[in-house]
Amino acid sequence: MTSATKDRIVIFDTTLRDGEQSPGATMSFEEKLEIADLLDAMGVDVIEAGFPIASDGDFEAVHAIAKRLKTSIVAGLARAIPADIDRAAEAVRVARRGRIHTFVSTSPIHLAHQMRKTEDQVIEIIAATVERARNLIDDVEWSAMDATRTPIDYLCRCVETAIRAGATTINLPDTVGYATPDEYQAMFRAVRERVPNADKAVFSAHCHDDLGLAVANSLAGLAGGARQIECTINGLGERAGNAALEEIVMALKTRGDSLPWECGIDTRMLMRASKLVSAASSFPVQFNKAIVGRNAFAHESGIHQDGMLKNQQTYEIMTPESVGVQKTSLVMGKHSGRAAFKDKLRQLGYEFGDNQIEDAFVRFKALADRKKHIYDEDIEALVDDGIAQSDRLKVRALTVIAGTMGPQSATLTLDVAGHHQTVQATGNGPVDATFNAIKAIVPHDAKLLLYQVHAVTEGTDAQAEVSVRLEDAATGRQVTGRSADPDTLVASAKAYVAAVGRIQQMAASKRLHAQHSDQVKVDEQV
Ligand code: KIV
Ligand code: ZN
Repeated sequence: MTSATKDRIVIFDTTLRDGEQSPGATMSFEEKLEIADLLDAMGVDVIEAGFPIASDGDFEAVHAIAKRLKTSIVAGLARAIPADIDRAAEAVRVARRGRIHTFVSTSPIHLAHQMRKTEDQVIEIIAATVERARNLIDDVEWSAMDATRTPIDYLCRCVETAIRAGATTINLPDTVGYATPDEYQAMFRAVRERVPNADKAVFSAHCHDDLGLAVANSLAGLAGGARQIECTINGLGERAGNAALEEIVMALKTRGDSLPWECGIDTRMLMRASKLVSAASSFPVQFNKAIVGRNAFAHESGIHQDGMLKNQQTYEIMTPESVGVQKTSLVMGKHSGRAAFKDKLRQLGYEFGDNQIEDAFVRFKALADRKKHIYDEDIEALVDDGIAQSDRLKVRALTVIAGTMGPQSATLTLDVAGHHQTVQATGNGPVDATFNAIKAIVPHDAKLLLYQVHAVTEGTDAQAEVSVRLEDAATGRQVTGRSADPDTLVASAKAYVAAVGRIQQMAASKRLHAQHSDQVKVDEQV
């Protein structure tokens, strides 16, 4: 089938909303902006940036993303409540193209137990809330929460009401991941055939993966007439997650012979997006995850390797390059020069100025002195580490005594705004001792929410990539610090220091903001 005869699908990414809603996946403001920029550059049509009424932090993130997106539409979620809708409109109004996405439950079980409303009352709510949204913005999406467990006659009444009130997109989610592909396809077909004004809206699929059917159901939705798919990077999302964007996009691209739809995603950016979301959410990607897992293009068995050497197509249905995996993973050693390093950074998708390249190159050389083989993953970890480190706090030296004789102790020298401070602390294990030493130099009452380690490559000399998430006691805001180093304890110390540095930065900018407001008040009085 040629491109000209294929229908163009709208890709709606909800990593920053449904994805971020999954327990423990909270992302910082800066991480959300970075992800939104990447999704925008990748060709995502609609980015659901958050739930503006949920918190000031959510509002600020949606608002900031709305201001910066170059091509994508930004969507803000709203319950069927006037205050939610007004807040979402306020957040997306600054965008070149904004959308309000409002939803209400329609299934009998939700109406009886969650909403405590009758079917007729919900119909009235749909009419009033969609109309309110449409009076604020031209692009309004309405979702029937738990659509797949809603009797079809009532679902049709709801959809007809929403379209009459001005909805331009109708989303029919499989909220609890219950549907089978045949059922999901039939639901779209029935609604589109029975609802008289169905041709006035774009239909959308939104599937959860409780039975592992989210991607299959999303594609079945297209077969039933949906032309928008809602999905997330790495399938991040509530419970078992949402349909994975990378799987949907690569299924469309690889099986264009039997799936007659296309989308505008630059698939070569999928791997980078996966890594960024994994790092920001601190959710590791399983090794055998389709498309973006570490083993997705690895061939271990002799028969497979033999076939691959003769012809790549024997065991590969898509090329690693098409999803942004570089073919040669083993890249450099200590004899590699600046030009090759610069070229490698460009290949990996980093656009740096000369100073940043020089800084990364110095750290690359130091790593090459300690580690024989440097892989692409090592370079990515090293560069990301540089971006994440705080300017004010730096780990200068760390010596840890560990082993069976306990208590374990850490002697740490930190550079605090240019001054070196050294302490020794003990703890229940070497990591605890190291964190206690940091606390002794930089006292704080942030709560440790997550400490996670994973090896960047294989082998016992692999770099350890560590994520540390802290919750600021004063504001409740969460920050994540990350670092990579061949020494797990050094990486842990640097990740913890990066997180503490972020909390200090947040507090400092809050103080500055407060001083500025006080000054404005004084100026006004004068
Ligand atoms: O799964 C769901 O029903 C949702 C709605 C808010 C669209 O995420
Ligand atoms: Zn959902």
